[in-house]
Amino acid sequence: MNNPLLQVEGLTTAFRAGGALIRPVQDVSFSVAQGGALGIVGESGSGKSVTALSILRLLPDTARIETGRILFDGTDLATAGMTSVRGRDIGMVFQEPMTSLNPVLRVGDQVAESLTLHNICPPAEARARAIDMLRRVGLSDPERRAQDYPHQMSGGMRQRVMIAGALVCRPRLLIADEPTTALDVTIQAQILDILRRMRAELGTAIVLITHDLGVIAEFVESVVVMYAGRVVERADVASLFRNPGHPYTTGLLRAVPRLHDVQRRLYQIPGNVPPPTRFPPGCRFAPRCAEARPICTEHVPPEIALSPSQSAACWKHTGFARP
Ligand SMILES: Nc1ncnc2c1ncn2[C@@H]1O[C@H](COP(=O)(O)OP(=O)(O)O)[C@@H](O)[C@H]1O
Ligand code: SF4
Ligand SMILES: [Mg+2]
Repeated sequence: MNNPLLQVEGLTTAFRAGGALIRPVQDVSFSVAQGGALGIVGESGSGKSVTALSILRLLPDTARIETGRILFDGTDLATAGMTSVRGRDIGMVFQEPMTSLNPVLRVGDQVAESLTLHNICPPAEARARAIDMLRRVGLSDPERRAQDYPHQMSGGMRQRVMIAGALVCRPRLLIADEPTTALDVTIQAQILDILRRMRAELGTAIVLITHDLGVIAEFVESVVVMYAGRVVERADVASLFRNPGHPYTTGLLRAVPRLHDVQRRLYQIPGNVPPPTRFPPGCRFAPRCAEARPICTEHVPPEIALSPSQSAACWKHTGFARP
């Protein structure tokens, strides 16, 4: 088998916050196959964005990667010269307004800029390729829309422009962090369609980050579930939906609205994700878990393999006994 395209091994990211060190991401590992699609799921505050920013080395000055390795096609990104990799080999799309477009640049120029920045082609060709990419992401009359400034566009249009900018260099990996969260349901579906189509056309591998399990159901092959900075479950998407291995995943699934079931009141997992300053000992999900036993609050659960393509970090799979 080929090398994985992206391999994250034992990633721990620490922030200095008010004189203390917090670790919103702790010992996170996963990999993405060449051309594959991985979903990272978890409620808001689970550490998904910090994971993405760690991979891209876009962390603020107060943060550092404490341990772990991030390999891109077998090369450690710590030594790879990140500015050349970012944007060229790895594209990114974020939820607005976290990383918005430059308000004073025409959108066509912004998309073309990625190409000239990485010396991929001369400006005239960059412009043509930018317009072609704007057409592919579904902008009608792209020659004219390329002249627009971001404020002249709707949120959905701006997100299309961001996707065009992220894909114009034909990166091998796209990291999309909540790319549809700020958009209404119809536009959400259109944006996911575009990502799916672009993946098929360009062979780009995708890491899709979302708090919404419903979004990834038809999009990815495998899923990593994060809770309070840790991976609690990893599985192929069919197993995850059919037979979730972690009580947190079960809770997330019950919270997904279902077609033909409009009457049902939507379930919510009781309580909230704790902030990194208050991560509980043992299993971090224990305060919210209906299945918790004494061992859960005392010891961190080991990751137990349930099948070759599924594992969960939960004591119930050992019969609540230490192995
Ligand atoms: N710049 C920062 N400084 C301090 N703590 C941060 C910073 N960014 C994120 N965090 C902490 O990391 C935790 C996880 O955040 P994040 O990765 O954004 O979650 P998610 O993307 O899953 O919603 C948050 O609870 C927050 O406390
Ligand atoms: S380890 Fe215990 S508290 Fe944690 S999810 Fe499993 S049963 Fe619940
Ligand atoms: Mg986030």
